[in-house]
Amino acid sequence: MSDVLLIERLESRVALLTINRPEVLNALNGEVRCALVGALDALRSDDDVRAIVLTGAGEKAFIAGADIGEFKGMTAVMQYRKMQASNIYSEMERMPKPIIAMINGFCLGGGCELAMACDIRVASDRARLGQPEINLGIIPGGGGTQRLPRLVGEGRAMKLIYTGEMISAEEAERIGLVDQVVPADELTERTLELARAIASKSPIALQAAKESILAARRMPMDEGLKFERAWFGLLFSTRDMDEGVSAFLEKRKAEFTGE
Ligand code: COA
Repeated sequence: MSDVLLIERLESRVALLTINRPEVLNALNGEVRCALVGALDALRSDDDVRAIVLTGAGEKAFIAGADIGEFKGMTAVMQYRKMQASNIYSEMERMPKPIIAMINGFCLGGGCELAMACDIRVASDRARLGQPEINLGIIPGGGGTQRLPRLVGEGRAMKLIYTGEMISAEEAERIGLVDQVVPADELTERTLELARAIASKSPIALQAAKESILAARRMPMDEGLKFERAWFGLLFSTRDMDEGVSAFLEKRKAEFTGE
């Protein structure tokens, strides 16, 4: 396990990933990216983990963006190769398990992009979000120009990206950039409660839901509906479906296994 990324397997089949560079507000450097890709790889095949929560260490930041220290002296070719080598943002979406961003403070640049690549965003009422790259003479490079307009609409995305301004958690919730805002001292408890609730569902049905929802981004509506129907039909062959229906009829709680 790397020091820059803490991996905890909690009770109730939830894994907590904590980016651990609080001295630089958890800025994303190569080591963190590499550790994140490795952690997702390990968790993908870990049947004991059904939901993942991603957060930043300390009280101040979720992730304050890419590590700006790494930018100095970096050539276009070096940056291009780095981006080609691994794309943590796409890896998050390819992960067949739900990932919740637990946004505990500054959520900027690559941090905001990483949060957007998660499935659900829960933020502390003290969080501040934004895409400040324009202040460095660049643009978002982790999917911000693509995912932000999908979440908040083109005009609001353009305003955030053109101005580099930070917005409050409340404003982020109002425009759809975060899904839930909770008091800072309840953030961990409330986020883990959500993660535990999700982790108690059928893992194969969760995967089907995630893949079907994300399919809408690359498919026209009729193709997306076909994709959904194929998954829907397939789920009728699972033990989890049998268990879910039996549990309902027998008035008991379902125990899903993912089979
Ligand atoms: N990369 C590298 N280091 C960073 C960083 C980043 N993205 N964000 C913060 N840090 C470092 C600071 O340099 C500082 O280090 P130091 O103590 O050695 O000087 C430390 O983290 C604390 O940050 P500081 O700026 O002192 O905190 P603050 O409360 O005054 O301001 C921010 C907080 C988030 C407003 C400010 O740090 C900031 O603007 N960060 C850059 C955000 C950004 O542009 N991200 C997109 C990058 S593409």
